Amino acid sequence: MPGSPLARRRNQTRASRSWTLTGMDYGVSSRPRSQIAAKVVVACSLTVLCMFMLRQSSTAPEGVMFSRHDGVLHVLVTGGAGFIGSHAALRLLEDNHRVTIVDNLSRGNLGAVQMLQQLFPEPDRLQFIYADLGDSKLVNQIFAANAIDAVMHFAAVAYVGESMEEPLRYYKNITANTLILLEAMKKHGVKKLIYSSTCATYGEPEKMPITEETPQNPINPYGKAKKMSEDMIRDYGRTTDLAATILRYFNVIGSDPKGRLGEAPRPELRHHGRISGACFDAAMKVSPGLEVKGTDYETKDGTCVRDYIHVTDLVDAHVKALEKLKPSKVTIYNVGTGQGKSVKEFVDACKAATGINVTVSYLERRPGDYAEVWSDPTKIFRELNWNAKYVDLTETLAMSWRWRQGHPNGYRSPAL
Ligand SMILES: NC(=O)c1ccc[n+]([C@@H]2O[C@H](COP(=O)([O-])OP(=O)(O)OC[C@H]3O[C@@H](n4cnc5c(N)ncnc54)[C@H](O)[C@@H]3O)[C@@H](O)[C@H]2O)c1
Repeated sequence: MPGSPLARRRNQTRASRSWTLTGMDYGVSSRPRSQIAAKVVVACSLTVLCMFMLRQSSTAPEGVMFSRHDGVLHVLVTGGAGFIGSHAALRLLEDNHRVTIVDNLSRGNLGAVQMLQQLFPEPDRLQFIYADLGDSKLVNQIFAANAIDAVMHFAAVAYVGESMEEPLRYYKNITANTLILLEAMKKHGVKKLIYSSTCATYGEPEKMPITEETPQNPINPYGKAKKMSEDMIRDYGRTTDLAATILRYFNVIGSDPKGRLGEAPRPELRHHGRISGACFDAAMKVSPGLEVKGTDYETKDGTCVRDYIHVTDLVDAHVKALEKLKPSKVTIYNVGTGQGKSVKEFVDACKAATGINVTVSYLERRPGDYAEVWSDPTKIFRELNWNAKYVDLTETLAMSWRWRQGHPNGYRSPAL
């Protein structure tokens, strides 16, 4: 936002050497790396960010268009510099909506926002506001200055293992920030919300597949913080005309099929082990190989089974949910393929997609991992006519691999 203060940047200094292919959203495996490199990276990021914000300021009069309701749906996308949020912003812009991205760049990539700006350079299409959702004053200013019709709330820290190490960070970033957002929406009369939730809110269900009726018993702060946010949205929805949809994603992979955007976790975040990134890092020899933890589960081949949903399908679910929002109604959907794929199958798909015989080590089980998780997507198909189209793992990974090969350093943003 023109004139917004630059918030503090966290200096994250850990990087990966190996990857784990288990876990609900992401696996975990960490090693420390050079702090100096991270400091240089942060300094460069801030320099370029300032330049970027100056460029934004110089186009200030154009911001007027974002402050008027003129028949174009204006969607506030929190976390729009991140993996899923940037893909959602792309789709919303392609659908001729107006988009305001709010992101503190703690985890996302400015390069993704810049790509969106290149694709949609018209002054009334996309604006980027650098802000932290924990700053309620600033969040209220954003709502006051912009005519927002709907919110897609993606912004979050989102690593299961990290949430075990830093629980309060997760409750603040996920639960407290969602409260701030809801309060601002209430104050400024914004009544449409799509919320990013997760299958981690279910914990370890006894029965597969997981339906929306499966009891929620999250077992880590990430899942608990998300469930608390869900509860707030549901309770608030009961007393108002809020129109909200909560989407519980399974394991999100893939990238824009046209190769405009990709998944580019910053180096200091890679040790958290996002699964597709782990495959590509192993293929590019950025990491020594893939670690598969647990080969004696009661599954088809002994390795964990997960439900991998393509980001493009996921974004499509958001758009369909947005179209079908109803006042005074909070609806919940699982978003998954309905198919469980084993880690071994994932590894095979990774090898086939990259054409590289990545090194794989098979290790003991990791405590806390459970054997199988996959969704029953019947409800979202029945009510929103949505189903996953990209269900072939090899094709999906091949798509993302093309992007990664063309972007070995991610978006080449200064943060990388
Ligand atoms: N990736 C998955 O497999 C998966 C699965 C289930 C749910 N989710 C949920 O989807 C959402 C998006 O995840 P993602 O994979 O794109 O993550 P991501 O880390 O790529 O993107 C999150 C974005 O939010 C921003 N952000 C974080 N805290 C912020 C704050 N306080 N203020 C402003 N911006 C902030 C980050 O800078 C980043 O750009 C999250 O809510 C996550 O919990 C993801």
